[in-house]
Amino acid sequence: MKKGRLNLDEAGIVEGISEVIVTTWTAAGIPNAAPIGIIYTIIDEEAGGGKDFVNVKLYKSSQTVLNVLKTRTLAANVTNDVLLFVKSAFEHLNGAHFSVFDGLPVLLDADAWIVFTAVPVEETRNYFCFQLQPRTVRVRVRAEQKGAPRAINRGRNAVIEATIFATRYDIIAVDEREKEEIRKIIGYYAAIVKKCGGRRENEAIGILQESFRVRRKN
Ligand SMILES: Cc1cc2nc3c(=O)[nH]c(=O)nc-3n(C[C@H](O)[C@H](O)[C@H](O)COP(=O)(O)O)c2cc1C
Repeated sequence: MKKGRLNLDEAGIVEGISEVIVTTWTAAGIPNAAPIGIIYTIIDEEAGGGKDFVNVKLYKSSQTVLNVLKTRTLAANVTNDVLLFVKSAFEHLNGAHFSVFDGLPVLLDADAWIVFTAVPVEETRNYFCFQLQPRTVRVRVRAEQKGAPRAINRGRNAVIEATIFATRYDIIAVDEREKEEIRKIIGYYAAIVKKCGGRRENEAIGILQESFRVRRKN
C-alpha cells in the first residue's frame, strides 16, 4: 500500500463511485439500509497529491443522513445482488438480513464490509457531504466465487439504473414534465430487464415498479 493511500481495493471499493448498501443505526437502535454511492478520489501523485479521499453525499430527505449526523459512522456493504439494492431502497429489510460488525449493523449477505467514521464537511440545500475514514474492513471469502468470471448482464445494470431514477423521483423531480421523463426512463430500463435479466433481476424490477406505482398514488 502506498503512503497516504487507503486500502479498500481488497473490499471492492476502487477509484470512482462505488454503489454499495449503506447500513446505519437509527436513534431508536433499528438497523437501516439504503443504496448509496461511495466516492473514492485519488489525487494524482504527479500533481503533488498521492493521497486518497473517500466522500459520500447524503440527501437531506434520507433516514441515512439523520443516522450518520447522529452517530458519525456508517457501514458500506459491498454486494452485486440487485435484489438487495431494490429491497433496501423500497422496503424495510427485516432483522434476519443483519448482523453486527464493529458496532454497526451490516448485511449478512454482503461480500465485504467497511465501517467508516464520517465527518460532515459540506452542507448544501439538498445534501450533506461527509468525509469518510475507514475504521475496519472485512472481506468474505466464498470458495465458489473466488476468481470466478462474471459476464456483464444488461439486465443487472438496468435494475440499478432504474432504482437510481425511482429513488430520485421524490427527491429531485420538481415538475410534471420531469416526473413524466423519469417514468419513461424507468419503463425503458424495465424493458431491458425483461429482455436480458434473470429471475432475480425480474423479481427486483417487479418490486421497484410496484413501489413506484404505490408512491405515485400517494
Ligand atoms: C444505486 C443507488 C445509489 C444511490 N446513491 C445515493 C447517494 O449517494 N446519496 C443519497 O443520499 N441517496 C442515494 N440514493 C438514493 C437512496 O438510496 C434513497 O433515497 C433511499 O430511499 C434512502 O433510504 P433511507 O431513507 O433509508 O436512508 C441512491 C440510490 C441508488 C439506487
